[in-house]
Amino acid sequence: EKGNYRHFMEKEIHDQPGACQHTLSAYLDPVSGRARAPDGLDFSRVDRIQIVACGTAYYAGLISRYLFESLARIPVDIDVASEFRYRAPPVREGTLCIVVSQSGETADTLAALRWCREQGLSTAAVVNVHTSTMAREADILLPTHAGPEIGVASTKAFTSQVAALSALAVAAASAKGRIDAAEEARLTRLLLEAPRLISAALALEEPIRALAPELAKARDVLYFGRGVMSALALEGALKLKEISYIHAEGYPAGELKHGPIALIDEATPVIVLAPSDALFEKTVSNTAEVMARGGPVIFITDEEGARRAPAGVRLIVAPGCDDIVAPLVYAVPIQMLAYYVAVQKGADVDQPRNLAKSVTVE
Ligand code: M6R
Repeated sequence: EKGNYRHFMEKEIHDQPGACQHTLSAYLDPVSGRARAPDGLDFSRVDRIQIVACGTAYYAGLISRYLFESLARIPVDIDVASEFRYRAPPVREGTLCIVVSQSGETADTLAALRWCREQGLSTAAVVNVHTSTMAREADILLPTHAGPEIGVASTKAFTSQVAALSALAVAAASAKGRIDAAEEARLTRLLLEAPRLISAALALEEPIRALAPELAKARDVLYFGRGVMSALALEGALKLKEISYIHAEGYPAGELKHGPIALIDEATPVIVLAPSDALFEKTVSNTAEVMARGGPVIFITDEEGARRAPAGVRLIVAPGCDDIVAPLVYAVPIQMLAYYVAVQKGADVDQPRNLAKSVTVE
């Protein structure tokens, strides 16, 4: 039930601290400080990971690729399921196929899972519906614990997928001997902070709601970020398109001058995802290029980043956090932004036109 919320999506955005907490506690032990993969999943024997998913679940996979590669040094290939199944890439022994799906029923993702099994690869499924076909057919079930998600636009399922995959990346790093017990405990502790930081990010509701009337007038909106934030930029753009029907695109900030900067004018708002991380200065200089062409910028950052932000941007100041939890924290403002713009436009937030919650045909 929606309780006091106007829409399921609004409720599900607010459910995220609990959803992530439940999911993280399935993979992280606060007492021992250890990250654990379920029985049967031995990352020390995984040489390569192939992630396959659709839509928002694909973006969760994209985010996790950064962690599997940087922490565990396991190379990751990632494809959208509708391409993967027909691309039929050569398979290598030692590859773990991970499908990511809220419903566990998406036709293309399921077909990709079956194809990987036929090739003799071991398979794991990050799914929210634990009785789903993917949950049953994969060798290993990697559950998210978001609870039922009703809104067509995925919110808490997405952050739960990111949470589960982040914890698994720590488990993989440990199994591969890439981090010692102290580092594993530190990363575990940082991830377990995520629910509190997500709650803090939910407090940005008012400043974000205040941006909606102006954004609702836009015909196009661009999202930029670097590193994991480039993947979150894609998710932000998808969220806005699907519920507000505004054309939106996400780009890695460095790609700007290779084309998309031609779109910038006074009527094209640009959302910049800019935590004060190692890539911050580069994101700032990309932002300055946008500003020089008259593009109105909404700059989502933390307090430290706010002090170093280019003059003239609209600031949204998110809670300061470590890199490993930043995608979980920054997901909240972009979800709320899409939500309030859609509400402002009077759109049917929970049942957007032309979309189904679960795409069970090709
Ligand atoms: O159930 P799944 O996670 O497999 O669904 C995948 C996509 O259809 C889904 O994430 C879709 O992109 C959402 N509407 C995004 O909000």
